[in-house]
Amino acid sequence: MSTLEISQVEKKKERKLAIIWAVTFMIVFPLLVILGLYMRLNQGKVVELDYTKFYAFMTMHGLGMAGVLFSVAFAGLWYLISTRITRLNLGVGYFVYVTVLIGFLALAYGTLIGNFAAGWYMLYPLPFKGASWATWSTQVSAVALILMGIAWLVGILHLLYALTKRYGGFFNLLGWQYLRKGTHEKLPSVVLIATVALIPGIFAFLAGAVMLIMYLLQTFEPSLAFNPLLMKNLTFFFGHMLVNVTLYCGVGWVYALMPEFTKREWKVDKVVVYSWNATFFFIVFAYLHHLYMDFAQPRSMQYIGQIFSYMSAVPATAVTMFGIIAQVYHSKMKWSIFPLMSLFGMMGWAIGGFAALVDTTIAINVGLHNTLWVPAHFHTYMLMGVVLFIFGYLFYLFSGEEGIHLKNVTGKAGFWLFVIGAYGFLLMFYLSGINGVPRRFADYQGIEAGHVKETGTHLARYAAMFIYLILLGLLVMYWSLFAKLTRRQKASA
Ligand code: HEM
Repeated sequence: MSTLEISQVEKKKERKLAIIWAVTFMIVFPLLVILGLYMRLNQGKVVELDYTKFYAFMTMHGLGMAGVLFSVAFAGLWYLISTRITRLNLGVGYFVYVTVLIGFLALAYGTLIGNFAAGWYMLYPLPFKGASWATWSTQVSAVALILMGIAWLVGILHLLYALTKRYGGFFNLLGWQYLRKGTHEKLPSVVLIATVALIPGIFAFLAGAVMLIMYLLQTFEPSLAFNPLLMKNLTFFFGHMLVNVTLYCGVGWVYALMPEFTKREWKVDKVVVYSWNATFFFIVFAYLHHLYMDFAQPRSMQYIGQIFSYMSAVPATAVTMFGIIAQVYHSKMKWSIFPLMSLFGMMGWAIGGFAALVDTTIAINVGLHNTLWVPAHFHTYMLMGVVLFIFGYLFYLFSGEEGIHLKNVTGKAGFWLFVIGAYGFLLMFYLSGINGVPRRFADYQGIEAGHVKETGTHLARYAAMFIYLILLGLLVMYWSLFAKLTRRQKASA
């Protein structure tokens, strides 16, 4: 896929930035998992957190996870593009890293110390009506998120600008030259997918910034008031897109790297261009399914939400699933850790996506809305989709282009522990959802329907046991990753 002449020194510098991102992720991710563990232990009545702490943990966990996963997904794209396709400005890369890190630490301060506990969705006018935390923690958290948003926007705009220059025009990044007659330069699939992911990302970050600035203004001028429906639309547009964009960044790496294992080209053609361009359009409207229960939302928007949710799920997923099957079928490739994780990541995307589709069906949503079915489906494609893509990429990065093809017994052992733990943890969410256990409840003791209370509490305890397995799996994978990294560093020294 490489179309770039790049010196070893330049490559080393880009690799260093990628490794800094990777190590930061490896520190932050288990800490956020531990917050999740505490929440499930509290719901299972094994530990006792006061309500404010529970919701502060949930806020940090949700925003932190979404932020760190997007950051690493973007950093991975940056590394692949800067070492294979076109030069990127390393200074901009470090600016993004440092600003996101400052934002992340500020968010941790606002939530874990300041007890800002409005959830990632900050359901307006929640922080201004009966909040149990001080105004400064709302301000610190909002500024933290704005900082991260600015960093991501700068990074995305730089990357898209460099790609536009490299391919002679923005529409060429979307593959429109494939729809015209005549010859043209081949477009790497990762460029098409990065563009489809990152442009809606720009809209999302702008919507998020507007919404956060409105919150911030009201903290300084309490007489201000905004339309709650507008605030909710902005928040869910931002949140829904961020998660989708993160997933597509991870899918982009799989398109780019899988051919190195199967020795088969995964090329862009008309079908791929039509599918990803359609997705580009559909995902912008799919977020409307988050507002099905908002009676004030115009009815036509609810129908648009239903139709676009179905449509957004089909083209990119279908073309990618066919693509991956075409890649691996009879390819005689060795099942080293990267293809294994990529395939399981695709599986997580498909399973979680299907569960989400079930939930976006209005007739079913009436029953499942605000039950643990909702965290079940998005945790499936984030934990068993995005996180597996990320670990596949980390193994690739730490092992190097040759090392990644070698046997990796320890890494695979960690991977299986992680997969078993994660699916067990997710199953408890799904079973809770089917049994009507509500989401976002610090514990279930106040629920009057006895079976819901009992089921919710028991399943939360089982879930906690599976989380221990996840942490063990992580530990084993870390052992393998650091062994690979130090071996490589020694060899290159
Ligand atoms: C092993 C890993 C994880 C564990 C143990 C975990 C655990 C939890 C728990 C217990 C909740 C509260 C659910 C409720 O009662 O409503 C939660 C919420 C949440 N989690 Fe995770 N989680 C994990 C991974 C992730 C990942 C990878 C993401 C990526 C985006 C994520 C994002 C969120 C978000 C956004 C919420 C808030 C949901 C809401 O507003 O209802 N989590 N998580």
